[in-house]
Amino acid sequence: TYSKWKAIKNVTKVGTVGFIGYTFYNMYEHSHPVMNPTPADPSKKTIVILGSGWASTSFLKSIDTELYNVVVVSPRNYFLFTPLLPSTTVGTIDHRSLVEPIRFITRHKPNEVKVYEAECTEIDSDKKIITIVDNSEVKGDRATSTISYDYLVVGVGAQSQTFGIKGVEEYGCFLKEVWDAQKIRTKLMDCIETAAFPGQAPEEIERLLHMVVVGGGPTGIEYAAELHDFLAEDLSAWYPELVGKIKITLIEAMPNVLPAFSKQLIDYTESTFKEQHISLHTKTMVKEVKEKEIIVQGPSGEKEAMPYGLLVWATGNTTRPLIRNLMTQHPETQNIRRGLAVDDWLRMAGANDIYALGDATATKYAPTAQVAAQQGKYLARVFAQLHATEQYENEVEIAATAEEKAKKARKLQKAQDIKPFHYSHQGSLCYIGSDKAIADVPFGPGNVAAGGVATYAFWRSAYISNLFSARNRWLVITDWTKKTFWGRDISRE
Ligand code: FAD
Ligand code: NAI
Repeated sequence: TYSKWKAIKNVTKVGTVGFIGYTFYNMYEHSHPVMNPTPADPSKKTIVILGSGWASTSFLKSIDTELYNVVVVSPRNYFLFTPLLPSTTVGTIDHRSLVEPIRFITRHKPNEVKVYEAECTEIDSDKKIITIVDNSEVKGDRATSTISYDYLVVGVGAQSQTFGIKGVEEYGCFLKEVWDAQKIRTKLMDCIETAAFPGQAPEEIERLLHMVVVGGGPTGIEYAAELHDFLAEDLSAWYPELVGKIKITLIEAMPNVLPAFSKQLIDYTESTFKEQHISLHTKTMVKEVKEKEIIVQGPSGEKEAMPYGLLVWATGNTTRPLIRNLMTQHPETQNIRRGLAVDDWLRMAGANDIYALGDATATKYAPTAQVAAQQGKYLARVFAQLHATEQYENEVEIAATAEEKAKKARKLQKAQDIKPFHYSHQGSLCYIGSDKAIADVPFGPGNVAAGGVATYAFWRSAYISNLFSARNRWLVITDWTKKTFWGRDISRE
């Protein structure tokens, strides 16, 4: 027993020293960019990357800028760690803890990478030119430009699906970007403060305090869970007069929530929601959203008006207009409505030198950060092999002796052997409130399904280790600690 304890002590010591060392290294790295990166070289090919999300950032991190000129175009100049975004809607975590500027990556590359905060509005795949527009609030005299590419990497993600249901865009809140989470937080506090206004009629208080979430996928579930924690842990202390009056309803069109998880975890989530007094309406469709009520159709087919104060809409993804436009340029090969059709090497079907990855594509994989990040890393390897192929083709041509030619030909053959993308699933996690999480993790030939408080500890450590930088890790741990001691901030932004 003594030697076992000694071993545990030693492992803990090494782990702690390693963690502290890594943190200091990362702090040093963060504040020491490459001061004079080598400028772009016109003799090299140019890769234009669209987007700064999971797919594009993972590609950017891995691409060798000594082989290619690289340009990044994205309307937001940062990477966002989406898995913890629901926590920012109620102030468990500050949104600034989850973002990292894209220039943090580019300034650590040996060669210059151009970054343009702009939206790509058009892709001309014949001329290999894209049009970019500065859609931000502050515009200079020039807000439109064009960029030529040799290769285009499309990682623009997807946008929230509304199915064209009337009123969703106008009155609902989505949960995809930082500004969505900020809007939810502001509106939530506004509903609560308005309900506390003197003389408010009881039925109006009931409406204002009815928080409705539409969509029982992981986004809707995690948001409802965070909202429950906020109401249970913080609001009861700040607004004792409203205790018992706040209601959360989750509406799901299918017979159960979280269709991608195992049956036992679905049951566990539904029973946890019941304990948390989150009202689940399955087999229920939203037909229309009005300013103060939504029209829903339940399993009986009857339509009903449901008054609400805050509506969060999380019914999945749809393609962005840029992608739809690109698809219409290639009607024979691009006919999947879910997104861009790509082959197993992430080449866009029907176009030359366009690669697409992440949520912008329609593949056999779920639209997740895990898939997008693995695709980005894979694609950077593909580009290294493409470069090696060109190099060995030239070297074979100019080889002086037969022996050298054969040697180079073997290298060329190896470079040309580009393996298709292979996805390795690391498991699915979801927070369900009250310090409980669920996890479906592949184990050997099967799966391990777990749920509860211990899984929540696993959920936390998995997300902490996957955060983008040591700075993000530090900030998130600080936010969690702050919340434990002082609770969440209820000030309206
Ligand atoms: P995104 O990350 O959405 O990035 C798209 C990028 O393209 C953005 O930078 C955007 O600004 C940019 N862009 C948009 N339009 C243009 C344009 N016209 N021109 C140029 N750039 C453009 N997945 C998991 O695996 N695990 C999780 O726990 C998880 N949690 C999630 C929680 C929430 C709340 C949400 C919304 C999603 C979650 N996901 C999770 C899914 C995951 O976030 C997505 O699958 C992932 O973001 C897809 O990566 P992407 O790079 O394709 O798109
Ligand atoms: P989703 O597509 O996973 O779920 C949307 C849900 O809304 C579905 O259950 C659907 O049946 C329901 N729905 C659709 N239309 C409806 C309507 N009119 N009325 C009521 N319900 C309706 O979308 P979500 O949750 O936004 O996730 C998108 C992607 O991001 C998924 O691939 C998901 O796995 C991933 N993600 C993963 C997370 C995690 O692993 N923790 C967290 C959040 C997202």
